[in-house]
Amino acid sequence: DVDMARLDVTETFHGISFPGHLHTQESLQHAMKFQFQDTDILIVSYPKSGTTWMQEIVTLTLSRGDPHLSRTVPNWTRAPWLEQYYCAATLKASPTTPRVITTHLPHHLLGPALQGSKARVIYVSRNPKDVVVSFYHFHKVANFLPEAGSFPEFLTRFLEGKLDFGSWFEHIKGWTAQEGALNLLHITFEQMSMDLRGSIEKVGVFLQCGLQEEELSSCVEHSRFSSMKDNKMINYSLVPEEIIDHKKGSFMRKGQIGDWRSLFTEELDQYFERIFTSKMLGCNLEFVWEN
Ligand code: A3P
Repeated sequence: DVDMARLDVTETFHGISFPGHLHTQESLQHAMKFQFQDTDILIVSYPKSGTTWMQEIVTLTLSRGDPHLSRTVPNWTRAPWLEQYYCAATLKASPTTPRVITTHLPHHLLGPALQGSKARVIYVSRNPKDVVVSFYHFHKVANFLPEAGSFPEFLTRFLEGKLDFGSWFEHIKGWTAQEGALNLLHITFEQMSMDLRGSIEKVGVFLQCGLQEEELSSCVEHSRFSSMKDNKMINYSLVPEEIIDHKKGSFMRKGQIGDWRSLFTEELDQYFERIFTSKMLGCNLEFVWEN
């Protein structure tokens, strides 16, 4: 159910560009004024940081490891993106209790709507070198995103905050600054990668699910890269070829820490480090760059 005429259109909202086939001025406005319920679970991430992985983990955790829902309902229905145009209608018949909602919006746009809310927010981050490499590959397969261009050009657009969804720096700084003010769990792609079981356990505690050992084992089993790669309800193979060109590559690409080395030259790395250091000044977040 996608408007093909809008496929490669960009929607600009508050100075940030969004893929126009799924985002409209109305849907973005709706997101900013969204009425959260205290029981809502909100998965927040910059694209390519492990969003889909967390959608699977949350679905499985709420189902206590039973894979039925995650094998029968696409992720965009069981954890819809707040800013996409079909979200309101999808949430009216939410297949999960409580509702699970996903967003890529930066905190400065969603903060007012979340103010005072007890909704549980799971912020997923990933080291930005792997984010930009994953995003680059995704631009090549996703026909709804602008041309990827060369990697050095793409990296510049990323560092300048010109890609869809805006600045990675603003995103991570804005959301992690809310750790005291919101009911927020910050979890990283690298933590999930290095200790999937421990990460799911943490999510289970945060969501007050108190998983039994076997339930936890089942969550781990079904959210592994290899399981998700074969699950058409989460691997985006249900998305038509016109939108994601599956011949050019798959959404579940590598799922590794440190793949940035495949595209970063020494020179690009120095360029990155220079900007990263200045933009992250005063921010004491630590990143895992390789495994
Ligand atoms: P790569 O392109 O590096 O492989 P998002 O869902 O935020 O768009 O993030 C997509 C990235 O998460 C992709 O990274 C994808 O392979 C990775 N990913 C998804 N599920 C994963 C899993 N179970 N284990 C490891 N990586 C996973």
